[in-house]
Amino acid sequence: MEMTRREGLAAVLALATTACSGNYSSPVNSVGTASAIDSLHKLAKAKGMRFGSAVGAGHSGSGSFRNTGYASLLKRDCGILVAENEMKWQSLRPDPLSFNFAPFDEILAFAEKNNMAMRGHTLMWHRPQWQPSWLEAYDFGTNPATEAARLLTTHITTVTDRYRGRILSYDVVNETVMEDSTLAQTAISRAIGGTEALVDLAFQTARAQLPDAQLVYNDYMSWEPGNEKHRAGVLKLLEGFRARGVPVDALGIQSHIRIDTYDPSTGTGPRQEREWRKFLDEVVAMNYDILITEFDVNDQALPGDISARDRSVADYAKAYFEVMLDYPQLKDVLAWGMCDSYSWLQEFKPLRTDGLAKRACPYSADFAPKPLHSKLAAALQTASAR
Ligand code: G3I
Repeated sequence: MEMTRREGLAAVLALATTACSGNYSSPVNSVGTASAIDSLHKLAKAKGMRFGSAVGAGHSGSGSFRNTGYASLLKRDCGILVAENEMKWQSLRPDPLSFNFAPFDEILAFAEKNNMAMRGHTLMWHRPQWQPSWLEAYDFGTNPATEAARLLTTHITTVTDRYRGRILSYDVVNETVMEDSTLAQTAISRAIGGTEALVDLAFQTARAQLPDAQLVYNDYMSWEPGNEKHRAGVLKLLEGFRARGVPVDALGIQSHIRIDTYDPSTGTGPRQEREWRKFLDEVVAMNYDILITEFDVNDQALPGDISARDRSVADYAKAYFEVMLDYPQLKDVLAWGMCDSYSWLQEFKPLRTDGLAKRACPYSADFAPKPLHSKLAAALQTASAR
């Protein structure tokens, strides 16, 4: 199998680390001993919260539970996990009839063995490019609405039946609001008669299956300038759910925060704190809980120097968490990966113009905790109990 750019980078960084420390297999490193590093979940738990991360089921050189170094980070810091890819239709549904549960089941077994909860991501990622190609090309026949509803409800009931009692929170729908605030359209939404009909049915089906689970709408609208229309579209969708009586419990705020422009006066990047608080106020006023579901920091515009960059990333995250933790409705914080080398951001364009790897996660490529880890720990320590 050909190596992806991310895997290649991880391999190079791993070799460099082995050369430097001779201790690649252990997460114990030059910065601190394992026992000296705060467990983020332990700190979160003391406040009635949970901390967690995405994990994969890939090979031992990726952000997988099979990677012993990565698994050590998860065991130290996480009380809850989410599969980075293995519950998506793209992975679960090779064709209209079958389900490929094996990779997700392996992750769930790892979580349960280590007393970690798991979130379900996602029962419907509603963007055409993230549907399986067979679904975008599907022939819905002479009664397209009936066939679309059958496909959707079969998927949701099969998955939720299988994991009943083991997964208590699902991203039922992911990213159906476009950045211009309109709703995404796909083959299945057109067949069923519109996006609202599709997402409403997804939540209604999930609720009928799981009366007590947390049902989440998950999206990436954020606090940087440029997100105004996306935020407005998400508020409109959430208002619509309430007006139509659709059973949605929480907004998943992905929190892929990013420094697109370097602002030397703050050492980080621009953000719209006042507008972001107003957005969050409106969400909680509609009686939605909030979660941080996919946290990382895209440092794409920061100057290259590593220690200054790590400080800026940590400061930017600290400012973000100061706002987020003000909301008692926030109880779960999940990072989208714990370690820089396996982050999806290493492949996400634009790449850094200096060609350096992004430093987006709490741990560096050699599993050393970075300033971001300490700032997250400090933020959780000062958070009010919920
Ligand atoms: O599994 C295949 C492998 O067999 C093949 O050799 C390889 C060739 O490129 O591709 C592998 O699949 C890739 C998969 O990641 C597993 O590595 C897909 O091409 C790639 O598109 C997929 O990217 C994921 C992306 O979602 C799309 O599903 C990223 O890892 C994942 O981090 C990203 O996560 C999303 C959240 O689900 C939703 N919010 C945004 C977030 C970041 O984009």
